[in-house]
Amino acid sequence: MAALQLSPIVAGAWRMAEWQMSPEQRLGWIQASLERGFTSFDHADIYGGYSVEALFGQALALAPGLRERIQLVSKCGIQLVTPARSGNAIKHYDTSAAHVRASVENSLKGLRTDRLDLLLIHRPDALLDADELAHCFLQLQRDGKVLHFGVSNFTAAQFELLHSRIPLATNQVECSPLHLDPLHDGTFDQAQRLGVAPMIWSPLAGGSLFTRQDEHAQKLRWIMGEVAGQLGVSIGTLALAWLMRLPCMPVPVIGSHRLQALDEARAATAVRLSAQDWYRVWTAAAGREVA
Ligand SMILES: NC(=O)c1ccc[n+]([C@@H]2O[C@H](COP(=O)([O-])OP(=O)(O)OC[C@H]3O[C@@H](n4cnc5c(N)ncnc54)[C@H](OP(=O)(O)O)[C@@H]3O)[C@@H](O)[C@H]2O)c1
Repeated sequence: MAALQLSPIVAGAWRMAEWQMSPEQRLGWIQASLERGFTSFDHADIYGGYSVEALFGQALALAPGLRERIQLVSKCGIQLVTPARSGNAIKHYDTSAAHVRASVENSLKGLRTDRLDLLLIHRPDALLDADELAHCFLQLQRDGKVLHFGVSNFTAAQFELLHSRIPLATNQVECSPLHLDPLHDGTFDQAQRLGVAPMIWSPLAGGSLFTRQDEHAQKLRWIMGEVAGQLGVSIGTLALAWLMRLPCMPVPVIGSHRLQALDEARAATAVRLSAQDWYRVWTAAAGREVA
């Protein structure tokens, strides 16, 4: 099995249902992402109340051949209480082999594809049976339905457990100048030690990097504006370049529908921050100097 190859920045489809786009406009967004080098697309079964994969698949069907030029990531394991899942009486996690297989079949159908390039377990599940899940992953791989596997929002210890049963390709976690946890809780140390690049969700803090009005966020924005100005880039570009500067080689998953934001993301691939600029952002983000 060839190693997983994601684009340096991944386009996230979480918000696609909110974009209120026609199938042609959704295809336009996919193609605009591709033109900027973002060939990998991030999904989950639950996005848009279990609707986004089908919205994406509908757009993909308009351009035969496009599937071969992209990588599709999806997730499963969260069970929502919604009319679309009438059997769910309470929000819960399900990482049983039966649920994972059924969810993969749904994802393939929605995305109108015969395979996922990467499947992630969306959240750590206290009932996760690592042997059962590893066996299920191997079967899905043998069937050609999923090429690679990973997890999301797992602690280093939770990652270690499943990784001891089957090689995992990533841990997709939240990180941004407004969310520093993985820098300091062992997540990124583990990623670097194992050579397993993490994917980063909400790298712009879901937009609140630009909009949060509390004193800490305003001060951070001011410092980031100063550093970005000196580098001749936008704050969005700086935020992504700041993450990509980490030696564990993070892959940001961005979530904008705007072409300008896609351009600003692409610009980040050409920026390498000095250690001092990186720490200017960290100092503002952490609200203190290093010791
Ligand atoms: N694994 C998980 O548990 C998990 C959880 C959440 C998300 N994700 C994945 O991560 C992806 C990205 O998450 P996200 O959407 O929160 O990422 P993000 O890139 O941090 O935030 C994107 C949001 O910020 C807004 N925004 C405002 N100003 C912007 C600017 N100057 N540049 C760029 N965006 C700006 C965007 O609105 P506009 O569209 O108007 O630009 C959009 O609503 C999701 O699509 C999903 O695939 C995974």
